[in-house]
Amino acid sequence: MNNEQALQQTFEQARTYFPSLGNSYKGRSVLFFDNSAGAQVSQFVIDRVTDYYIHRNAQKGTIFTRTAEMQQTIVDARQLAADLVGATDHTEIAFGQNATNFFHLFAHHLGRDLQAGDHIIITEADHHANVTPWLELAERDIHVHLWNVDTQGNLDFNHYEKLLELEPKIVAAGWASNATGTIHDMQRITAMAHAAGALVVADGVQAASHMAMDVKTAGVDFAAFSTYKIFGPHMGFGYVNRERLERLEGWRIQKELEKDSYFFEVGSQNHEGIEGFIGSMEYLAQVTKDAEDHGLSLDRTRLASTRPSRRNIAGAMHFAHLYEQQLTNHFLAKLADVEGVVLYGKTAEQSEERLPVFSFNIEGIATDSLGHALNDAGVEARTGNYLAIHLMKRLAAPYGGSALRISLVHYNTIEEIDRFFGIFSQVLTDLKTNVE
Ligand SMILES: Cc1ncc(COP(=O)(O)O)c(C=O)c1O
Repeated sequence: MNNEQALQQTFEQARTYFPSLGNSYKGRSVLFFDNSAGAQVSQFVIDRVTDYYIHRNAQKGTIFTRTAEMQQTIVDARQLAADLVGATDHTEIAFGQNATNFFHLFAHHLGRDLQAGDHIIITEADHHANVTPWLELAERDIHVHLWNVDTQGNLDFNHYEKLLELEPKIVAAGWASNATGTIHDMQRITAMAHAAGALVVADGVQAASHMAMDVKTAGVDFAAFSTYKIFGPHMGFGYVNRERLERLEGWRIQKELEKDSYFFEVGSQNHEGIEGFIGSMEYLAQVTKDAEDHGLSLDRTRLASTRPSRRNIAGAMHFAHLYEQQLTNHFLAKLADVEGVVLYGKTAEQSEERLPVFSFNIEGIATDSLGHALNDAGVEARTGNYLAIHLMKRLAAPYGGSALRISLVHYNTIEEIDRFFGIFSQVLTDLKTNVE
């Protein structure tokens, strides 16, 4: 068996861990292609949440044994998140409501160290979650600059160089686009920011559903992730470089105010969600094991020399990224045959620089009608700007900043892509007939 086949078998097996993927909706089988908005969960997650409610439901801050165990579970879960993204350990991770909330928290705490006249860079490529919190600081006469993309949606590094001459205090940038699937060179973004004296706040949300993340190699200072896009419950977690955090004046103030809270985890947490998150990491560890049972190896990767707990979790995401490149190549080859298609972001020739997240329009057809017709035909795919508002305004201006997005993850298959293009061809024929 070659590696390509081993990857396919590994992820065919992974798919069997997701009870919802075999489901039909209203008596019809459905293609779930809205994974960038949120993924399905495996049985590992469902079992963990159920077990929590039956055996371990408790509140923090008492002397009960059950409480102590629950509090330890949160620490263990933080450690798993640290393993997933490559943080030093659990002390650099906090759970919370979602990624957007973390960006607001970061802006709030980092904002305390800023003064009128200071500069911040945000990007034209980002989801608004990592845009709005920084724009709010403009109310305090902090200058917020938009780092431009080129006509393909790539971050323009010449423009970045110019903006860095302003000696900004913060650069807020995404690791990968949730609209075009373009992977950004976070290591380069960070190195340039640090050389100019800026801290980097990274949006790791989209990349983490598809790749093995490494916050230390990338050098980011702060980052946020959505657990529900990493095959877990509806929550998020934040990463902070502990050393940099301790140096912030704003953080010292916070510590004074809330002595008994654990860094950004204020108030009660979503305990059942945190348990479910542990299930999602157990799932990834299982996929790594399955991949190795199918003959795949991590030996020549950076993960080979990392701690075993990280290797076992992030390994699955390393293999997922390789497998998803097969999906990407297949999807783009099929899409190229569709008449009038306008694809945004990286092309088939640049497929290694992108994720299997495809935004496109069809000339002469309103984006919304594509979405409705596909929904009627059993394909769950999103239309709109997916809150990548600046980017879609720039790329899809003739379509009102809107496009159809098909977003795949590792449990999707070549067969589903083929099925989609069969349906899509019929949908386009019907829509074109209606237009005529
Ligand atoms: C790139 C990106 N950043 C941030 C978010 C927001 O994440 P959350 O719902 O966890 O706040 C999303 C959600 O779609 C996203 O795709």
